[in-house]
Amino acid sequence: MTINKAKLQDLESIIAIEQQVFNTDSYPAFVLRQLFDISGDYFIVAKEDDKILGYALGGLNTQKKQGWILSLGVHPDARGKGLGKQLTQRLIEVLKAENTKEIALTVYPDNTSAIKIYKDLGFEGNEVLDNYFFDNEDRIVMKKMN
Ligand SMILES: CC(C)(COP(=O)(O)OP(=O)(O)OC[C@H]1O[C@@H](n2cnc3c(N)ncnc32)[C@H](O)[C@@H]1OP(=O)(O)O)[C@@H](O)C(=O)NCCC(=O)NCCS
Repeated sequence: MTINKAKLQDLESIIAIEQQVFNTDSYPAFVLRQLFDISGDYFIVAKEDDKILGYALGGLNTQKKQGWILSLGVHPDARGKGLGKQLTQRLIEVLKAENTKEIALTVYPDNTSAIKIYKDLGFEGNEVLDNYFFDNEDRIVMKKMN
């Protein structure tokens, strides 16, 4: 298994996983394409034998020196083997290298496997913010100081 910067030819498979795992909450394809265009090293993909198993997408707020984990998805067949954690760890390293002071993310309060990964990697915060995405759903914002 390798984790590398995503290439344009990876994007359709990444979009398919994003739509499969997030359903109606997924980023539309055109948004992912445009995020790909501006994402530099912080759009990464995990592959085995040329098959895409998962991806992680970061973002940067350069004025606040803040990095964001915007999306993380692992194909259902590839879960439970540490891939989500490895992708998150690698994305943290890439965002740290961009001179960020902290890294932030949002997560559903009931997303136990994702929250476990984030806590294991040093993210803190359990304040539940209602209607964060104007969808009448709760989210937790977690942060990790670099
Ligand atoms: C969240 C997600 C990326 C995890 O991927 P993964 O490759 O299975 O993750 P890992 O194998 O690295 O780790 C999962 C951890 O959660 C644990 N876990 C799994 N289900 C769990 C549950 N119901 N309760 C508690 N812990 C759980 C696993 O034991 C593992 O912990 P460990 O490393 O101590 O063994 C994957 O489930 C996914 O794509 N989900 C849909 C998209 C999503 O929710 N993304 C995150 C949005 S913020």
